[in-house]
Amino acid sequence: MIAHLIEEAWEGDFAAAVRGVLPLLEGSYAILALCADTDEVVAARERSPLVLGLGDDEFFACSDATPPLSHIPGIFWSWKTGDLAVIRRGSVAVENGGETVVRETTYIDYDVEASRKGGFEHFMLKEIFEQPDVFQQSFRLACKHHGISMLLSRARGISVIACGTSYNAALLFRYFVEKECGVPVRVDLASEYRYLSTPGDEIVIAVSQSGETADTLSALKKAASSNCATIAITNVQGGSSITRAADDTIYTGGAGPEISVAATKSYMGQYAAFVGLLAGMSCSDMSAVERSVRQAIEESLLTDVNEAVSLCVGASTLFYVGRGIFYPVALEGALKMKEISYIHAEGYAAGEIKHGPPFALLSKDTPAVAVCLPGDGYQSMLGNLREMKARGTPLIGIGYGDDIDLQDVADVCIPVPPKGTHMRRWLR
Ligand code: M6R
Repeated sequence: MIAHLIEEAWEGDFAAAVRGVLPLLEGSYAILALCADTDEVVAARERSPLVLGLGDDEFFACSDATPPLSHIPGIFWSWKTGDLAVIRRGSVAVENGGETVVRETTYIDYDVEASRKGGFEHFMLKEIFEQPDVFQQSFRLACKHHGISMLLSRARGISVIACGTSYNAALLFRYFVEKECGVPVRVDLASEYRYLSTPGDEIVIAVSQSGETADTLSALKKAASSNCATIAITNVQGGSSITRAADDTIYTGGAGPEISVAATKSYMGQYAAFVGLLAGMSCSDMSAVERSVRQAIEESLLTDVNEAVSLCVGASTLFYVGRGIFYPVALEGALKMKEISYIHAEGYAAGEIKHGPPFALLSKDTPAVAVCLPGDGYQSMLGNLREMKARGTPLIGIGYGDDIDLQDVADVCIPVPPKGTHMRRWLR
């Protein structure tokens, strides 16, 4: 359609034809228009990602900075709304509203190795194994944002907006902050935020791995236009749309691009950023946390889960259950199972099982994964597991290796390292 509109507007000047068509377009777009008769590429965007990489005598226009980085030194042009770029051999001219403009360039410091598989069979595996580093670096970076932590600890309310995995990570923050600091936290799906009221005196945190998710970006803009202070937590260094729209940004350090679509290490980075902020908010000395969590993640990555996997093979539905902070973990487990295996999975707050259909649906063909660690809700959780067991559900328990009660009810136990004791303060 756009090509036809350009053809109709054509009066001998290609760039002028594209320029004339843009006001007719509705919605969000990023386009590169090429003309067979000239050597020009005209680039334009409206609320969709588009970056322009500047090399020696070559230019790359892409939706993401990663692909061109193996070809150019990492210099990108900061694109503003309404900008239109006319790329010719050896030159690029930018205009906005008919005026020629000069835009600043941004340097993206990026390790190209990060976008290779580094000996792993596939990217998801590589990214899962990057989690110890991602945790450590993201935690350190977030701890440096002491000013933001102080602001949050004094806030009347905090709202967190995100989609998918980022939303599940945000739910964790709610449990942490409300328990530790008593500041009320609201967590909303960014795609629903437009239908909800926005109290103007809140601090709004937008969480997005890519920094480009349209729903999160428009929710963030809504919050900003309601005079909320806005903070972004994102994985993309050097100017994503969400970073540009927020007052301040916390980067999930070391996470690098998530090439595998399933969010794994970025979830860990977001978790670490939240724990780092919490450390500042509660003025806790968390120096031991960094080391012990890193070690716990490393150990977890070496855990043999084959027995648990065998229990799930052939299942058409899986249930993931947890209480307290493990409820969001169950949601994320179910999301990952669905996304990666295409086996249907449901994440449930364990206490809700009896309020919904699961009891009627549970059978020997519906395995359940339960996160169950001693602390708040532990006895109730064991009770829930016994009820599930009574329906023949094969149970996979994730908990401490020496937990006899869990071993008693679960068919298979996946032990979590006892070094994860940093969690215990939120389990009480
Ligand atoms: O880039 P974002 O964090 O904003 O993306 C949000 C979701 O689309 C994303 O988390 C999605 O749910 C994951 N890829 C699932 O693994």
